[in-house]
Amino acid sequence: MLEKLTKWKSAMTSEQKSKDIDDINVPKHIAIIMDGNGRWAKQKGLPRVAGHHEGMKVINKVVRKADELGVEILTLYAFSTENWKRPKTEVDYLLRLPERFLNKELPTLMEKNVKVRLMGSVDGLPDHTKKAVLKAVEDTEANTGLVLNFALNYGSRFELITAVKEIAKQVEEGVISATEVDESVLTSHLMTAELRDPDLLIRTSGELRLSNFMLWQLAYSEFWFTDVLWPDFNEQHLVEAIAVYQKRARRYGGV
Ligand code: IPE
Ligand code: IPE
Ligand code: MG
Repeated sequence: MLEKLTKWKSAMTSEQKSKDIDDINVPKHIAIIMDGNGRWAKQKGLPRVAGHHEGMKVINKVVRKADELGVEILTLYAFSTENWKRPKTEVDYLLRLPERFLNKELPTLMEKNVKVRLMGSVDGLPDHTKKAVLKAVEDTEANTGLVLNFALNYGSRFELITAVKEIAKQVEEGVISATEVDESVLTSHLMTAELRDPDLLIRTSGELRLSNFMLWQLAYSEFWFTDVLWPDFNEQHLVEAIAVYQKRARRYGGV
């Protein structure tokens, strides 16, 4: 009973808080650096992987709320090219999470018309991870709702180097000339080629850095940082971030 009442109360707060948001100026693309799983677990005397498990459960809530608010693209940083430096057992656990998440949530994502997409070096992933994520991309390909973009084995520097190599090759082969290389050419070679840039970047856990995330695409995004650890992040925090975003003046170098 008490649990029900608490749930009802938190649903009410979430609903009321959503009213603080202006429906028109909702960020179309939100990117999130989901950080702090390890510290969350440590605080509770649990192994780090327990934090990753708990963090996975938050994704669902955030996807649902973002969709409900009219966000068009949600990019989630799930595994960086630098995360391979972690102990093998932790890396193995992290790379099992996408399939565990998708096995459970794919039917709901389908129901919600969510389109799953990936950015990162898929070829560098273990076969089981690759298989699960590529299946999700394929199954949801025709969906027209929220784009759920997972950054998996993603690093912005690698992405930029790959793009530069591709462009250099095209110049070498005479497909384009060096003078034709401009912002739109580079953008078209990034892993986000068909996506607009993020309007809002959220990073949890109090770290104030990008950790090799979307260095090009975040050039004019608004940043919102919170001390909340990712497993504790919820719908209200998302609403709060959007409310702050809506108070910002984006000038893009103008006046
Ligand atoms: C984020 O949590 C998950 C990934 C980086 C994959 P962390 O595992 O980085 O948690 P902290 O930063 O150590 O607390
Ligand atoms: C960034 O978090 C990567 C992901 C959230 C996937 P990290 O925890 O790896 O970043 P650093 O090491 O604190 O910069
Ligand atoms: Mg971290």
